[in-house]
Amino acid sequence: MKIIIINGPNLNLLGKREPGIYGSHSFEDYLSILKTKFTTIDFAYYQSNIEGDIIDKLHEVGFNYDGIVLNAAAYTHTSVGIGDAVKAIETPVIEVHISNVHSREEFRHKSFIAASAKGVISGFGLKSYDLAVESFL
Ligand code: DQA
Repeated sequence: MKIIIINGPNLNLLGKREPGIYGSHSFEDYLSILKTKFTTIDFAYYQSNIEGDIIDKLHEVGFNYDGIVLNAAAYTHTSVGIGDAVKAIETPVIEVHISNVHSREEFRHKSFIAASAKGVISGFGLKSYDLAVESFL
């Protein structure tokens, strides 16, 4: 089973960025743990701070992967383009967030992705990604 995790803007700073909200582990460290936990899954990982690059990646993987775990970060709340890309592809997408976006500022309550996603997981720290991966099994 081929699953790609796509992370959006500022998530390259996980471990350093607002650790009280996002924790103190880098995503790379977490990903190596995830790979040892789900040995049957062929993982790919992509991170970009650029909206169009995330859209290009969704187009590239969206017809040949089994699942996409997408944390579009701030673009979740602003990007019609990423929302449309999720609608346009065939591979199911799980929207994930590390923090509980619904307990935060009101602008984080809106998602342009959720309506076309298979599901949404928010607020479990990095475990949100584990839960998303598990949902594909
Ligand atoms: C986030 C929540 C977003 O509101 C925020 O802009 C992020 C990270 C999360 O994983 O909790 O950058 O997607």
